[in-house]
Amino acid sequence: MLKVLCTIFLSFPVGILSQAWHNKACLEDDVGYVERLAQETMYKIEKDVKFCNLKVDDFNQTINNQMYSWHVSGSVQYTDNFLISIQSVHLEKISSLVTRRLVNNVPEYQAGVLFTLVFNQAKIGFNALVKLDNQPEQRYTLDYLYNSISFPISIVRILNTTETTYTSSSAGTLAHVVKMNFLPYTNVSQVIGRNFKSSTISSSFTKWARQIFLPIMEELEDIITFPTIRLDGCK
Ligand SMILES: *[C@@H]1O[C@H](CO)[C@@H](O)[C@H](O)[C@H]1NC(C)=O
Ligand SMILES: *[C@@H]1O[C@H](CO)[C@@H](O)[C@H](O)[C@H]1NC(C)=O
Ligand SMILES: *[C@@H]1O[C@H](CO)[C@@H](O)[C@H](O)[C@H]1NC(C)=O
Repeated sequence: MLKVLCTIFLSFPVGILSQAWHNKACLEDDVGYVERLAQETMYKIEKDVKFCNLKVDDFNQTINNQMYSWHVSGSVQYTDNFLISIQSVHLEKISSLVTRRLVNNVPEYQAGVLFTLVFNQAKIGFNALVKLDNQPEQRYTLDYLYNSISFPISIVRILNTTETTYTSSSAGTLAHVVKMNFLPYTNVSQVIGRNFKSSTISSSFTKWARQIFLPIMEELEDIITFPTIRLDGCK
């Protein structure tokens, strides 16, 4: 208990004391580092993982709504869903920061690199089994085109120990469906489309980042080296 209190107490004045140091500390070519890391990661996904192995978990959605004069209720089971294609990949919001904190009165330096990996025009394919009340089961294949899927990633390194942590926050919120295709196209397709909740599958996108992208980045740690710290503002 005492230890916890000490940490909280100490961490505040340290922030003030080390301000001058903060202003000048920076990472050399953080943008180049992120570009090399993202490029190599995408290359490995394409070659070793394959895009079709970026899966979306099975999920069910219930249907209960009024379409014109038609009351529709039932369920849709989505299975074997996966990424079909992406048009391009780009990087956004690259930034970095260096901080210092005292551990038993000895300074420890920590550097973080943040960026967002963006898949543009990502198409996801689904198999849907539609069970509407009082109607025979129907099977559909559909694909939904997302304008973009964004993966916010952060890489934090404790410079003293070179211990590096890779994390990704939730990917879903920035994903928007822009177009849907159905086979066959019937009056039921409209019902499916209207009831599709994009947010249902965003947890799968977050899993791609956490279970596939981040481990690849970690493996590349020895090849694509973390930027070195400089104290001159990197001018
Ligand atoms: C969807 O519903 C079916 C039928 O009730 C069930 O067997 C299946 O486990 C459900 N899938 C999920 C992901 O909940
Ligand atoms: C971390 O590295 C700095 C600079 O080399 C050194 O002054 C400091 O004592 C180290 N801190 C710890 C906790 O090892
Ligand atoms: C949709 O199609 C089914 C099967 O062809 C038909 O039974 C149903 O009445 C149609 N509903 C509407 C609202 O057109």
